[in-house]
Amino acid sequence: MIYHIPALLIESIEGLNIKPDGNYVDVTFGGGGHSMEILRRLRKGRLIAFDQDDDSAANVPADKKLLFLNQNFRFLKNNLHFNGIKSIDGLIADLGVSFHQFDEPSRGFTFRQDAPLDMRMNRSGKVTASYLLNTLDEKSLADLFFNYGELINSRRIASEIVSFRTSKPLSTVKDIMDAVARLAPYRQEHKFYAKLFQGLRIAVNHEIDFLKEMLEQALELLNPGGRLVVITYHSLEDRVVKNFIRTGNFEGEEKKDFYGNIETPFRIITKKGITPGEDELAANKRARSARLRIGEKI
Ligand SMILES: C[S@@+](CC[C@H](N)C(=O)[O-])C[C@H]1O[C@@H](n2cnc3c(N)ncnc32)[C@H](O)[C@@H]1O
Repeated sequence: MIYHIPALLIESIEGLNIKPDGNYVDVTFGGGGHSMEILRRLRKGRLIAFDQDDDSAANVPADKKLLFLNQNFRFLKNNLHFNGIKSIDGLIADLGVSFHQFDEPSRGFTFRQDAPLDMRMNRSGKVTASYLLNTLDEKSLADLFFNYGELINSRRIASEIVSFRTSKPLSTVKDIMDAVARLAPYRQEHKFYAKLFQGLRIAVNHEIDFLKEMLEQALELLNPGGRLVVITYHSLEDRVVKNFIRTGNFEGEEKKDFYGNIETPFRIITKKGITPGEDELAANKRARSARLRIGEKI
């Protein structure tokens, strides 16, 4: 089984503008596709790679230029300081889940196979999807599916879940699908379940909060001229990244200077973001929702 096929590989690595002697960070190592390309371009430089999933450690190559840390990227700054690195020349984040996490039935990320409702990227964490579904109150469940799944019938979904769990806890993929089956729109079932599972996955792994924490630290660590390169896979995380690069804050609030220019700590390299071309999509259709944004620290 393939561990992962990297999306927008050339575009993102070129976007890092690698200096052979610089310090770089890949906060989402996964199968190491992006990291390998960075290593190839380094001479005396270093690459620090993070992944919170211990399965990804099996993909780490023997290379003295690379330090792999089985850590959440929300601890970016502490880990770099601990390893004597005070500033960096570029950081890449290829967000979301790897093919491996998605395709491995025991991980419970997909509605296409029955499995325990787990969805933890870091399996030493306590909170699984099943735990959230069985313990959150109805309002919190509705908020979860509205905010993270972007489902407009989130209140009805929450109500069905709460009524299902009065007779039995939700512990498998089949349980959640049975609980909300009546609400899946005809012929759009896949889209509905994809959003439902996306919402749960984001909540289990605190994806939006941790992304914000990491971005703020990345900005602090980057040297002037250093590049922030981020690939997102859904509109929620893309909005966070886009706002941050454009305005320096997550809400996209514009502060203008005397001349009316928006004040931001970044020079925007990709105005609209870069999406995969036809050739890439023909070879890897899972890259279809990828969007690459690049900012250069001023
Ligand atoms: C899309 S995959 C990255 C694939 C990689 N670029 C490659 O070419 O193989 C995303 C990876 O990021 C990891 N990840 C997601 N959120 C993380 C976080 N907060 N901290 C550390 N790793 C994270 C996941 O475990 C997963 O392995």
